[in-house]
Amino acid sequence: MKIINIVGARPNFMKIAPLMREMQAHPELEPVLLHTGQHYDANMSQIFFDELGIPRPEINLGVGSGSHAWQTAQIMLRFDPVLLEQRPDWVLVLGDVNSTVACSLVAAKRHIPVAHVEAGVRSFDRTMPEEINRIVTDALADLLFTPSRQADKNLRQEGIPAEKIYFTGNIMVDTLLQSAEIAAQRKTWARWNLPPQGYAVLTLHRPVNVDNPDVLTRLVDTLAQVANQLPLVWPLHPRVARRLSEFGLLPRLKAVPGLLAVEPLGYLDFLSLLTQAKMVLTDSGGIQTETSVLGVPCLTLRENTEWPVTLSEGTNTLVGTDSRRILHETQRILDGESKAGRVPERWDGQTARRIVNVLLEQIV
Ligand code: UD1
Repeated sequence: MKIINIVGARPNFMKIAPLMREMQAHPELEPVLLHTGQHYDANMSQIFFDELGIPRPEINLGVGSGSHAWQTAQIMLRFDPVLLEQRPDWVLVLGDVNSTVACSLVAAKRHIPVAHVEAGVRSFDRTMPEEINRIVTDALADLLFTPSRQADKNLRQEGIPAEKIYFTGNIMVDTLLQSAEIAAQRKTWARWNLPPQGYAVLTLHRPVNVDNPDVLTRLVDTLAQVANQLPLVWPLHPRVARRLSEFGLLPRLKAVPGLLAVEPLGYLDFLSLLTQAKMVLTDSGGIQTETSVLGVPCLTLRENTEWPVTLSEGTNTLVGTDSRRILHETQRILDGESKAGRVPERWDGQTARRIVNVLLEQIV
Protein backbone atom coordinates (compact mmCIF):
# COMPACT_ATOMS: atom_id res chain seq x y z
CA MET A 1 0.00 0.00 0.00
CA LYS A 2 1.55 3.24 -1.17
CA ILE A 3 1.01 6.26 1.08
CA ILE A 4 2.07 9.82 0.21
CA ASN A 5 2.78 11.63 3.48
CA ILE A 6 2.47 15.41 3.27
CA VAL A 7 4.51 17.88 5.32
CA GLY A 8 4.79 21.62 4.78
CA ALA A 9 5.33 23.72 7.87
CA ARG A 10 7.30 23.45 11.09
CA PRO A 11 4.68 21.76 13.30
CA ASN A 12 4.27 18.96 10.73
CA PHE A 13 7.87 17.82 11.00
CA MET A 14 7.81 16.51 14.58
CA LYS A 15 4.54 14.73 13.79
CA ILE A 16 5.79 12.86 10.72
CA ALA A 17 9.02 11.54 12.30
CA PRO A 18 7.48 8.69 14.35
CA LEU A 19 4.97 7.87 11.60
CA MET A 20 7.63 7.46 8.89
CA ARG A 21 9.67 5.26 11.24
CA GLU A 22 6.67 3.06 12.05
CA MET A 23 5.60 2.80 8.40
CA GLN A 24 9.12 1.85 7.33
CA ALA A 25 9.01 -1.05 9.80
CA HIS A 26 6.20 -2.68 7.78
CA PRO A 27 7.20 -4.05 4.36
CA GLU A 28 3.54 -4.04 3.28
CA LEU A 29 3.66 -0.23 3.31
CA GLU A 30 5.42 2.03 0.84
CA PRO A 31 5.64 5.46 2.46
CA VAL A 32 6.59 8.39 0.22
CA LEU A 33 7.45 11.72 1.85
CA LEU A 34 6.41 14.96 0.15
CA HIS A 35 7.41 18.44 1.39
CA THR A 36 5.35 21.29 -0.03
CA GLY A 37 8.07 23.82 0.83
CA GLN A 38 5.65 26.07 2.77
CA HIS A 39 8.44 26.56 5.34
CA TYR A 40 11.89 26.72 3.75
CA ASP A 41 14.38 28.47 6.07
CA ALA A 42 16.97 26.01 7.40
CA ASN A 43 15.94 26.69 10.99
CA MET A 44 12.22 26.35 10.19
CA SER A 45 12.61 23.12 8.21
CA GLN A 46 15.91 21.27 7.49
CA ILE A 47 17.10 21.21 11.11
CA PHE A 48 14.03 19.14 12.07
CA PHE A 49 14.82 16.54 9.41
CA ASP A 50 18.41 16.30 10.64
CA GLU A 51 17.60 16.11 14.35
CA LEU A 52 14.64 13.77 14.14
CA GLY A 53 16.09 11.44 11.50
CA ILE A 54 13.28 12.13 9.03
CA PRO A 55 14.18 10.77 5.58
CA ARG A 56 14.87 13.31 2.86
CA PRO A 57 11.56 14.06 1.09
CA GLU A 58 11.37 12.27 -2.25
CA ILE A 59 9.31 15.16 -3.62
CA ASN A 60 9.57 18.88 -2.81
CA LEU A 61 6.99 21.22 -4.32
CA GLY A 62 9.04 24.29 -3.36
CA VAL A 63 6.07 26.64 -2.97
CA GLY A 64 7.45 29.11 -0.38
CA SER A 65 5.55 32.04 1.08
CA GLY A 66 2.57 34.02 -0.14
CA SER A 67 -0.97 34.92 0.82
CA HIS A 68 -3.20 32.08 2.01
CA ALA A 69 -4.98 31.88 -1.34
CA TRP A 70 -1.74 31.97 -3.30
CA GLN A 71 0.00 29.40 -1.10
CA THR A 72 -2.98 27.01 -1.06
CA ALA A 73 -3.51 27.35 -4.82
CA GLN A 74 0.18 26.85 -5.63
CA ILE A 75 0.31 23.68 -3.53
CA MET A 76 -2.81 22.37 -5.28
CA LEU A 77 -1.48 23.14 -8.75
CA ARG A 78 1.86 21.49 -8.05
CA PHE A 79 0.48 18.49 -6.14
CA ASP A 80 -2.08 17.42 -8.74
CA PRO A 81 0.37 16.17 -11.41
CA VAL A 82 2.48 14.48 -8.72
CA LEU A 83 -0.58 12.59 -7.51
CA LEU A 84 -1.44 11.46 -11.04
CA GLU A 85 2.09 10.25 -11.61
CA GLN A 86 2.58 8.56 -8.23
CA ARG A 87 -0.90 6.97 -8.01
CA PRO A 88 -0.82 6.32 -4.24
CA ASP A 89 -3.42 4.27 -2.39
CA TRP A 90 -3.66 6.89 0.37
CA VAL A 91 -2.64 10.48 1.08
CA LEU A 92 -1.82 11.19 4.72
CA VAL A 93 -1.99 14.77 6.02
CA LEU A 94 -1.19 16.23 9.44
CA GLY A 95 -2.51 19.07 11.57
CA ASP A 96 -4.01 22.27 10.22
CA VAL A 97 -1.58 24.14 8.00
CA ASN A 98 -2.28 25.33 4.44
CA SER A 99 -0.45 22.29 3.02
CA THR A 100 -2.89 20.00 4.88
CA VAL A 101 -6.04 21.43 3.34
CA ALA A 102 -4.53 21.99 -0.12
CA CYS A 103 -3.39 18.37 -0.55
CA SER A 104 -6.63 16.99 0.93
CA LEU A 105 -8.66 18.90 -1.64
CA VAL A 106 -6.58 17.65 -4.55
CA ALA A 107 -6.62 14.03 -3.34
CA ALA A 108 -10.36 13.99 -2.63
CA LYS A 109 -11.14 15.28 -6.14
CA ARG A 110 -8.87 12.63 -7.66
CA HIS A 111 -10.70 9.97 -5.58
CA ILE A 112 -7.63 9.10 -3.52
CA PRO A 113 -8.61 8.45 0.11
CA VAL A 114 -7.23 10.88 2.71
CA ALA A 115 -6.07 10.04 6.25
CA HIS A 116 -5.94 13.01 8.63
CA VAL A 117 -3.75 12.86 11.72
CA GLU A 118 -4.84 15.28 14.49
CA ALA A 119 -8.44 15.30 13.28
CA GLY A 120 -11.37 16.80 15.19
CA VAL A 121 -9.32 19.53 16.88
CA ARG A 122 -11.45 22.71 17.08
CA SER A 123 -11.06 26.20 18.55
CA PHE A 124 -14.58 27.17 17.33
CA ASP A 125 -12.99 30.40 16.11
CA ARG A 126 -13.38 30.72 12.36
CA THR A 127 -11.27 33.86 12.24
CA MET A 128 -8.24 31.54 12.63
CA PRO A 129 -7.04 30.32 9.23
CA GLU A 130 -6.12 26.99 10.82
CA GLU A 131 -9.73 26.42 11.95
CA ILE A 132 -10.93 26.64 8.35
CA ASN A 133 -8.17 24.23 7.32
CA ARG A 134 -9.25 21.76 10.05
CA ILE A 135 -12.95 21.82 9.19
CA VAL A 136 -12.40 21.39 5.45
CA THR A 137 -9.79 18.65 5.86
CA ASP A 138 -11.98 16.66 8.26
CA ALA A 139 -14.98 16.97 5.94
CA LEU A 140 -12.89 15.40 3.14
CA ALA A 141 -10.97 12.75 5.09
CA ASP A 142 -11.77 9.05 4.92
CA LEU A 143 -9.84 8.11 8.08
CA LEU A 144 -9.72 10.55 10.99
CA PHE A 145 -7.15 9.99 13.72
CA THR A 146 -7.98 12.03 16.82
CA PRO A 147 -5.85 13.13 19.79
CA SER A 148 -8.67 13.32 22.39
CA ARG A 149 -12.20 12.14 23.13
CA GLN A 150 -13.34 15.75 22.77
CA ALA A 151 -12.08 15.69 19.17
CA ASP A 152 -14.17 12.54 18.50
CA LYS A 153 -17.19 14.37 19.86
CA ASN A 154 -16.53 17.41 17.66
CA LEU A 155 -16.41 15.22 14.57
CA ARG A 156 -19.59 13.35 15.48
CA GLN A 157 -21.34 16.72 15.93
CA GLU A 158 -20.28 17.66 12.40
CA GLY A 159 -21.96 14.49 11.12
CA ILE A 160 -18.82 12.43 10.47
CA PRO A 161 -19.65 8.70 10.76
CA ALA A 162 -18.17 6.98 13.82
CA GLU A 163 -16.56 4.22 11.72
CA LYS A 164 -14.15 6.70 10.12
CA ILE A 165 -12.94 8.01 13.50
CA TYR A 166 -10.10 6.48 15.54
CA PHE A 167 -8.96 7.88 18.89
CA THR A 168 -5.26 7.18 18.56
CA GLY A 169 -3.73 9.88 20.84
CA ASN A 170 -1.40 12.85 20.37
CA ILE A 171 1.29 12.13 17.79
CA MET A 172 3.55 14.99 19.00
CA VAL A 173 3.96 13.16 22.29
CA ASP A 174 5.63 10.20 20.55
CA THR A 175 8.43 12.51 19.41
CA LEU A 176 8.56 14.37 22.70
CA LEU A 177 8.98 11.21 24.79
CA GLN A 178 11.58 9.81 22.40
CA SER A 179 13.61 13.02 22.54
CA ALA A 180 13.12 14.38 26.09
CA GLU A 181 16.18 12.77 27.63
CA ILE A 182 18.65 13.74 24.94
CA ALA A 183 17.10 17.20 24.75
CA ALA A 184 17.52 17.82 28.49
CA GLN A 185 21.23 16.98 28.22
CA ARG A 186 21.72 19.85 25.77
CA LYS A 187 21.11 22.37 28.57
CA THR A 188 20.12 25.06 26.09
CA TRP A 189 19.42 27.51 28.94
CA ALA A 190 23.16 27.68 29.72
CA ARG A 191 23.71 29.38 26.32
CA TRP A 192 22.33 32.58 27.88
CA ASN A 193 23.84 31.89 31.32
CA LEU A 194 20.45 31.05 32.77
CA PRO A 195 19.95 28.53 35.57
CA PRO A 196 17.40 25.68 35.31
CA GLN A 197 13.99 26.99 36.50
CA GLY A 198 15.39 30.51 36.30
CA TYR A 199 13.69 31.68 33.10
CA ALA A 200 10.47 31.62 31.08
CA VAL A 201 9.99 30.81 27.37
CA LEU A 202 7.88 32.88 24.98
CA THR A 203 6.63 32.20 21.45
CA LEU A 204 4.27 34.27 19.30
CA HIS A 205 3.27 33.89 15.68
CA ARG A 206 -0.55 33.93 15.33
CA PRO A 207 -1.66 36.62 12.86
CA VAL A 208 -4.25 37.87 15.40
CA ASN A 209 -1.45 38.65 17.88
CA VAL A 210 1.39 39.77 15.66
CA ASP A 211 -0.12 41.41 12.57
CA ASN A 212 -1.89 44.27 14.40
CA PRO A 213 0.49 47.00 15.67
CA ASP A 214 -1.69 47.88 18.70
CA VAL A 215 -1.93 44.29 19.89
CA LEU A 216 1.75 43.54 19.32
CA THR A 217 2.85 46.77 21.04
CA ARG A 218 0.68 45.98 24.06
CA LEU A 219 2.06 42.45 24.20
CA VAL A 220 5.68 43.61 23.96
CA ASP A 221 5.10 46.11 26.79
CA THR A 222 3.44 43.48 28.99
CA LEU A 223 6.06 40.86 28.26
CA ALA A 224 8.77 43.39 29.10
CA GLN A 225 7.22 43.61 32.56
CA VAL A 226 7.29 39.82 32.87
CA ALA A 227 10.95 39.86 31.74
CA ASN A 228 11.79 42.34 34.49
CA GLN A 229 10.84 39.64 37.00
CA LEU A 230 12.09 36.56 35.17
CA PRO A 231 14.31 36.38 32.07
CA LEU A 232 12.23 35.56 29.02
CA VAL A 233 13.76 33.60 26.12
CA TRP A 234 11.90 34.43 22.91
CA PRO A 235 12.78 32.45 19.75
CA LEU A 236 11.38 34.68 17.01
CA HIS A 237 9.16 33.10 14.37
CA PRO A 238 9.85 34.83 11.00
CA ARG A 239 6.36 36.32 10.94
CA VAL A 240 6.81 38.12 14.26
CA ALA A 241 10.41 39.08 13.48
CA ARG A 242 9.18 40.88 10.39
CA ARG A 243 6.32 42.61 12.23
CA LEU A 244 8.55 43.80 15.11
CA SER A 245 10.79 45.43 12.57
CA GLU A 246 7.90 46.90 10.51
CA PHE A 247 6.20 48.37 13.58
CA GLY A 248 9.48 49.85 14.89
CA LEU A 249 9.33 47.76 18.08
CA LEU A 250 12.88 46.40 18.03
CA PRO A 251 14.47 49.26 20.04
CA ARG A 252 11.81 48.86 22.73
CA LEU A 253 12.54 45.17 22.92
CA LYS A 254 16.29 45.60 23.05
CA ALA A 255 15.94 48.08 25.93
CA VAL A 256 14.79 45.28 28.27
CA PRO A 257 17.80 43.24 29.41
CA GLY A 258 15.68 40.25 30.49
CA LEU A 259 13.95 39.94 27.13
CA LEU A 260 16.16 37.64 25.08
CA ALA A 261 15.02 37.65 21.45
CA VAL A 262 16.79 34.80 19.63
CA GLU A 263 16.64 32.97 16.29
CA PRO A 264 14.12 30.12 15.91
CA LEU A 265 15.54 27.05 17.66
CA GLY A 266 15.72 23.47 16.46
CA TYR A 267 13.47 20.85 18.03
CA LEU A 268 15.98 19.50 20.56
CA ASP A 269 17.18 22.92 21.74
CA PHE A 270 13.62 24.15 22.10
CA LEU A 271 12.50 21.03 23.96
CA SER A 272 15.55 21.32 26.21
CA LEU A 273 14.55 24.88 27.04
CA LEU A 274 10.97 23.79 27.80
CA THR A 275 12.03 21.02 30.20
CA GLN A 276 13.59 23.47 32.70
CA ALA A 277 11.38 26.52 32.14
CA LYS A 278 9.63 28.03 35.14
CA MET A 279 6.75 28.83 32.82
CA VAL A 280 5.86 29.24 29.15
CA LEU A 281 3.88 31.97 27.41
CA THR A 282 2.69 31.10 23.91
CA ASP A 283 0.05 31.34 21.21
CA SER A 284 1.12 28.08 19.57
CA GLY A 285 -1.15 25.03 19.51
CA GLY A 286 1.54 22.38 19.86
CA ILE A 287 3.37 24.04 22.75
CA GLN A 288 0.19 23.95 24.84
CA THR A 289 0.21 20.17 24.53
CA GLU A 290 3.97 19.78 25.07
CA THR A 291 3.95 21.78 28.32
CA SER A 292 1.05 19.68 29.62
CA VAL A 293 3.05 16.50 29.06
CA LEU A 294 6.17 18.02 30.66
CA GLY A 295 4.19 19.43 33.61
CA VAL A 296 5.39 22.98 32.89
CA PRO A 297 2.89 25.81 33.59
CA CYS A 298 1.68 27.40 30.34
CA LEU A 299 -0.13 30.71 29.79
CA THR A 300 -1.78 30.80 26.38
CA LEU A 301 -1.95 34.30 24.91
CA ARG A 302 -5.24 33.69 23.09
CA GLU A 303 -8.95 33.95 23.82
CA ASN A 304 -9.62 30.33 22.92
CA THR A 305 -7.83 27.06 22.38
CA GLU A 306 -8.22 24.06 20.10
CA TRP A 307 -6.76 21.97 22.95
CA PRO A 308 -9.36 22.22 25.78
CA VAL A 309 -8.00 19.02 27.32
CA THR A 310 -4.85 20.97 28.26
CA LEU A 311 -7.06 23.34 30.29
CA SER A 312 -9.16 20.66 32.00
CA GLU A 313 -6.40 18.11 32.57
CA GLY A 314 -3.06 19.73 31.74
CA THR A 315 -1.09 22.76 32.92
CA ASN A 316 -2.55 25.32 30.52
CA THR A 317 -4.40 28.57 31.37
CA LEU A 318 -5.96 30.90 28.78
CA VAL A 319 -5.02 34.53 29.42
CA GLY A 320 -5.74 36.32 26.13
CA THR A 321 -3.75 39.49 25.48
CA ASP A 322 -4.98 41.60 28.37
CA SER A 323 -1.98 42.95 30.31
CA ARG A 324 -3.51 42.69 33.77
CA ARG A 325 -4.57 39.10 33.25
CA ILE A 326 -1.13 38.08 31.92
CA LEU A 327 0.69 39.76 34.81
CA HIS A 328 -1.73 38.38 37.40
CA GLU A 329 -1.38 34.78 36.19
CA THR A 330 2.39 35.16 35.87
CA GLN A 331 2.55 36.27 39.50
CA ARG A 332 0.49 33.28 40.58
CA ILE A 333 2.96 30.93 38.92
CA LEU A 334 5.93 32.76 40.46
CA ASP A 335 4.19 32.40 43.83
CA GLY A 336 4.05 28.64 43.29
CA GLU A 337 0.32 28.49 42.62
CA SER A 338 0.48 26.77 39.24
CA LYS A 339 -1.85 24.01 38.08
CA ALA A 340 -0.62 20.49 38.86
CA GLY A 341 -2.16 18.82 35.81
CA ARG A 342 -1.92 15.26 34.53
CA VAL A 343 -1.06 13.78 31.16
CA PRO A 344 -4.21 13.29 29.02
CA GLU A 345 -5.38 9.85 27.92
CA ARG A 346 -3.34 8.16 25.14
CA TRP A 347 -0.67 10.86 25.14
CA ASP A 348 1.70 8.01 25.82
CA GLY A 349 4.13 7.74 22.92
CA GLN A 350 2.19 4.91 21.21
CA THR A 351 0.18 6.97 18.74
CA ALA A 352 2.21 6.19 15.59
CA ARG A 353 1.85 2.46 16.29
CA ARG A 354 -1.94 2.79 16.70
CA ILE A 355 -2.28 4.82 13.49
CA VAL A 356 -0.17 2.45 11.41
CA ASN A 357 -2.14 -0.54 12.73
CA VAL A 358 -5.34 1.06 11.41
CA LEU A 359 -3.65 1.81 8.06
CA LEU A 360 -2.54 -1.83 7.78
CA GLU A 361 -6.17 -2.89 8.19
CA GLN A 362 -6.99 -0.96 4.99
CA ILE A 363 -4.89 -3.27 2.82
CA VAL A 364 -7.25 -5.30 0.64
C1 UD1 B 1 2.16 28.35 9.67
C2 UD1 B 1 0.81 27.65 9.88
C3 UD1 B 1 0.48 27.60 11.37
C4 UD1 B 1 1.60 27.02 12.17
C5 UD1 B 1 2.88 27.82 11.88
C6 UD1 B 1 4.07 27.31 12.65
C7 UD1 B 1 -0.86 27.96 8.10
C8 UD1 B 1 -2.10 28.65 7.75
N1 UD1 B 1 -0.26 28.37 9.22
O1 UD1 B 1 2.00 29.70 10.02
O2 UD1 B 1 -0.69 26.82 11.54
O3 UD1 B 1 1.30 27.08 13.55
O4 UD1 B 1 3.14 27.72 10.47
O5 UD1 B 1 5.25 27.88 12.25
O6 UD1 B 1 -0.45 27.06 7.40
N2 UD1 B 1 8.63 32.50 6.65
C9 UD1 B 1 10.00 32.58 6.57
N3 UD1 B 1 10.69 31.41 6.56
C10 UD1 B 1 10.09 30.20 6.63
C11 UD1 B 1 8.70 30.15 6.73
C12 UD1 B 1 7.98 31.31 6.75
O7 UD1 B 1 10.58 33.64 6.49
O8 UD1 B 1 10.79 29.16 6.60
C13 UD1 B 1 7.84 33.75 6.69
C14 UD1 B 1 7.02 33.91 5.42
O9 UD1 B 1 7.65 34.82 4.58
C15 UD1 B 1 5.68 34.44 5.90
C16 UD1 B 1 5.67 34.21 7.37
O10 UD1 B 1 6.94 33.70 7.76
O11 UD1 B 1 5.53 35.80 5.66
C17 UD1 B 1 4.61 33.22 7.74
O12 UD1 B 1 4.74 31.97 7.09
P1 UD1 B 1 3.43 31.15 6.66
O13 UD1 B 1 3.80 29.85 6.08
O14 UD1 B 1 2.53 32.04 5.89
O15 UD1 B 1 2.62 30.88 7.97
P2 UD1 B 1 3.04 30.79 9.51
O16 UD1 B 1 2.68 32.05 10.18
O17 UD1 B 1 4.43 30.27 9.66
